[in-house]
Order: sequence, then C-alpha cells, then structure tokens
Amino acid sequence: MTSKNTARESGQFHLAGTTAVTRLGYGTLQLTGPGGWGYPKDPDKSMRVLRRAVDLGVNLIDTADSYGPEVAENLIREALYPYAENLVIATKAGFTRPGPKRWVPVGLPEYLRQQAEMSLRRLNVDCISLFQLHRVDPRVPLEVQVGTLKELQDEGKIRHIGLSEVDIQQLKRAQRIARIDSVQNLYNLGNRVADPLVDYTERAGIGFIPWHPLATGALAGHDSPLSAMAKKRNVAPSQIALAWLLQRSSTMLPIPGTSSISHLDENVAASEISLTNSELQILNGVRVY
Ligand SMILES: NC(=O)c1ccc[n+]([C@@H]2O[C@H](COP(=O)([O-])OP(=O)(O)OC[C@H]3O[C@@H](n4cnc5c(N)ncnc54)[C@H](OP(=O)(O)O)[C@@H]3O)[C@@H](O)[C@H]2O)c1
Repeated sequence: MTSKNTARESGQFHLAGTTAVTRLGYGTLQLTGPGGWGYPKDPDKSMRVLRRAVDLGVNLIDTADSYGPEVAENLIREALYPYAENLVIATKAGFTRPGPKRWVPVGLPEYLRQQAEMSLRRLNVDCISLFQLHRVDPRVPLEVQVGTLKELQDEGKIRHIGLSEVDIQQLKRAQRIARIDSVQNLYNLGNRVADPLVDYTERAGIGFIPWHPLATGALAGHDSPLSAMAKKRNVAPSQIALAWLLQRSSTMLPIPGTSSISHLDENVAASEISLTNSELQILNGVRVY
C-alpha cells in the first residue's frame, strides 16, 4: 500500500556525494502528447501525477527540454512550483524536435547553452540540479559538448552534470573534462546491453539512471514475462521489474514513466520489495526484446 514517503524505502543516493535523491525516481516523458509531442489531452491529470509523485516521497524527477518540447518542464513548474527544498529536477538538452517521435541530436555549444537558459526560465530556478547531455552529437567533439556543460557549471547555472547514451570510453573521455555525476542509458531486465556500464558506474559512485526501466510497458501489465512471479507474491509485474533494478546496483536510480496515478502508486510501492536470491536467479534469464 503506498502512503506518504513510500519512495524513501528505496533508499537514498547522493549525487557527487552531496545531493540526496530517493533511488526510485519518476520520468516525465509519458506526461506529454503522443510521440513526446505537444500537450496531453488532460494536462490537469499530468499535474496530479506529478504532485502525487512528490507526495509519495519521490524527489528525483527526470525531464528534458525536448519532451513536448517544453511541455514536460512547463507542467513540472505549473504543478510543483514553489518547489520543495529537496526536489531534484533532472533535465536534459541536446535533442531538437522536428516532429512527433522525431529526435535529432544537436550538440553545438551555442545550442546547449541556449537550452540551459531556456530550461532555467521554464523551470523558474536559478540553478538546474542535474543537467544531462541527452545525446552526444557525432558532429561535435564530445569534449566540446561536455566542456560547454562544465562552463555552465562553473557559472553556477547547473549543479551536477549527467550524460545519456554513452559507452564506457565516452564516459572516461568526459570525466577528463568534468565531474560526471550520472549516466542515463537504456537498461531494464529485458535489455542488459549496458551491464558493463552499470558495473563501471557503481564502482565509480556515479548514479545510473536506466531509461525504459519497464521496457515501455512490456515488463508491466498482464502480458509481462514477470506475471507468474508477481502473482505468487501478490504484487504487480512492474514492481518486480523495478525491485530487480534497485537490487542490481547500489547506484541504480530507476525513473519509471506513467501518466496514471494508480500505476505511479504501484511503481513507487516497488521500493518496499526485496527479491530473494532464487527469484533473482530466475529473473536473470528473462529477455523481452
Ligand atoms: N535518456 C533518454 O534518451 C530517454 C529515452 C526515453 C525515456 N527517457 C526517460 O525515461 C523515463 C522512463 O521511460 P519511459 O517512460 O519511456 O518508459 P517505461 O518507464 O519503461 O514505461 C512506461 C510505459 O509503461 C506503462 N506503465 C508504467 N507503469 C505501469 C504499470 N504499473 N502497469 C502497467 N503499465 C505501466 C506506461 O503507461 P501508463 O502511462 O498507462 O502508465 C508507459 O506506457 C521517461 O519518462 C523519460 O523520463 C529517457
């Protein structure tokens, strides 16, 4: 049963050893219109979901300038401003949006800087808690892109720097330019390509934020390959998928996305589940795509 502060049961992680976040966070992509484009049909409902996440103790909210674009950040401000002191809004820049479902990387320094300024304004904050490079633009040297984020950090406009969709070599190159406090890559029980990166970030004390933690729903719901185990435990399949992530690495910070309060409640309640060794062994064999 979810109640106030349930998310705290997932434990805390400190970005750079300083900024505390609940290990179970929330991702805002599902709050926009279809294909990550425009406003949802019912923006009030999206705002209720955001407020509920905070009520449940979630204090890591993942978003991006490109969700909507602008929509997710606007909804966060409208729903949650003035922000609780401990709220960590993690936004991103580095994608342009020519249309629904279309994401084109642009890592030019002027663009990243402009987008940081726009996110500061939209979120109505003086400093962005965690600013993530959404994609490394292959046309711009990685060092230039990370260097721009480092400049923004030195100017006090962003507190922590994160990367998204990088490999270990790229992360190491970035670490020569700036302190990297989080990495956000595709990772879930059914897609473990990033396993070596998960291990690397855990050893380095870097937060690992798995996107598509529920495999966009394939691991949740009745058709999930986790249904049998979930039924035995009288929990939801999504909770098994999230509990597995939380146990996979001490620096794992899942950000399940949902547009539904009941799914949010269900997902946050995964904080309270502890899987046994034999369950973990069974789960290691699951593949969904
Ligand atoms: N860095 C990147 O490149 C990148 C890429 C993609 C996403 N992200 C971030 O990662 C977050 C998570 O990814 P995601 O939202 O795309 O995928 P996800 O969390 O793997 O899955 C979301 C999907 O699962 C459904 N769902 C959620 N909880 C459920 C439950 N308890 N029971 C049944 N269905 C459930 C949602 O539908 P309902 O709305 O109906 O609940 C939605 O369709 C995003 O919100 C975004 O913040 C980052």
